[in-house]
Amino acid sequence: MNVLNKRFPEGFLWGGATAANQMEGGFHEGNKGLNIADVLPGGKERLNILMQPGFTFEIDEDKYSYPNHEAIDFYHRYQGDIALFAEMGFKVFRMSIAWTRIFPNGTELEPNEEGLAFYDRVFDELHQHGIEPVVTISHYEMPLNLVKQYGGWRSRELVTFFERYAKVIFNRYQKKVKYWMTFNEINGALHFPIMSMGFSIQNEETKHQDIFQAFHHQFVASALAVKACHEIIPDAQIGCMILFAPVYSYDCHPDNVMYALEEERVFNFFCGDVQVRGEYPAFIQRYFQEHNITLEIEDGDLDIIKEHTVDYIGLSYYMSQTQMLDKSGADVVPGNLLQGVKNPFLKASDWGWEIDPAGLRISLNKLYDRYQVPLFVVENGLGAYDTVEADGSIHDDYRIDYLRSHIEAMAEAVEDGVALMGYTSWGCIDLVSASTGEFSKRYGFIYVDKHDDGSGTLERKKKDSFFWYKKVIETNGTEL
Ligand code: BG6
Repeated sequence: MNVLNKRFPEGFLWGGATAANQMEGGFHEGNKGLNIADVLPGGKERLNILMQPGFTFEIDEDKYSYPNHEAIDFYHRYQGDIALFAEMGFKVFRMSIAWTRIFPNGTELEPNEEGLAFYDRVFDELHQHGIEPVVTISHYEMPLNLVKQYGGWRSRELVTFFERYAKVIFNRYQKKVKYWMTFNEINGALHFPIMSMGFSIQNEETKHQDIFQAFHHQFVASALAVKACHEIIPDAQIGCMILFAPVYSYDCHPDNVMYALEEERVFNFFCGDVQVRGEYPAFIQRYFQEHNITLEIEDGDLDIIKEHTVDYIGLSYYMSQTQMLDKSGADVVPGNLLQGVKNPFLKASDWGWEIDPAGLRISLNKLYDRYQVPLFVVENGLGAYDTVEADGSIHDDYRIDYLRSHIEAMAEAVEDGVALMGYTSWGCIDLVSASTGEFSKRYGFIYVDKHDDGSGTLERKKKDSFFWYKKVIETNGTEL
């Protein structure tokens, strides 16, 4: 344990983060409908398969495996899992509601009672252990019907479906959930629209038009959800959720510096500017012109966006990105989904994600300088291979080192003056990887006996990091 002489604010929200599609399983139970994650094959190629022209969004068990179908069976094991979170001292637990448990096709007028009752049980269980839920309304699990029949968020009609869904869950859980977020990693769609927007890029020509029109629909839907949340649960806080990966210029060549600035604005700040400030930022007009984007904006949309801004920013932080204007011949980071170049000062995880704790301090400062609203780190962690020793122990000191350095960076940011609400480390219990569909890419404090070939008993085991994180929470981050 290291002793840190910096202090996190009192009441800091320590916990862990998950998403329904990556942990629940029970993909056919309780009248749940199919969602986009249910047709995602397992394995490193999953995103490429999904983006192939002609991908039909059907389940084909002869050809592929589907790890999200059973996932880690939280659907049946939530009580035991929540008891383990409580043992670590979690103050909050970030989870998402599977839209298809509530509206199996997304279009129904009445919700599915079995789905609503399931989350009642989960929230009650959390509260019995003194844990507050932090709920993402949409985390990569939109109803498949909306993908197939409507082309995902390109369609305006999704605004109505989403607003109905949001109102139903606010009404139902108004006494049980006080922290909400609308769309997980909303800006991530710039690279992979399929997971959160429900369509893949078939045509480079219309790519930008489609993505930004879908963003517009999501912004309106998100603002309407914020409005409904404030009306129905006045004492709740509702945030946006940004995938934040600070952009570094590869060198001090002014062309590269300008390029990095542009990348930063469009990728990291554009969605926040709209959701936090309530306006399309000035810089995006030139981008729209250069990419032939003409948004269809209905009367009243801009007022809705302006009037119903979020209360806080939730962010995920895994890595920084290093950018240069001309990448030809440059060493590109293999596992970096953001298509950056290699940063000579950083090491990478086994999946090629560059490890940069200082980047978290930089991110928090950049966000707070720009917006002055509370920040909440709702995802951060190390995907790594774990080994179970003969005696059942799991010595994951690499994970502890990663988390310690990132928590230290957050403490520095707090000293810098950033208003930070909390920290929920990603995948506090091992679950299915979103980008690769693997179980072997593990993030948890709790090991789950489930493997890439689908085998495993689903038994849970405490890793060394479990005991370490318990101490971190107990001491409010001073013993690391
Ligand atoms: C974020 C997502 O992008 O990163 C999570 O919100 C995801 O759903 C997490 O699991 C880690 O990514 P991966 O691909 O390692 O699971």
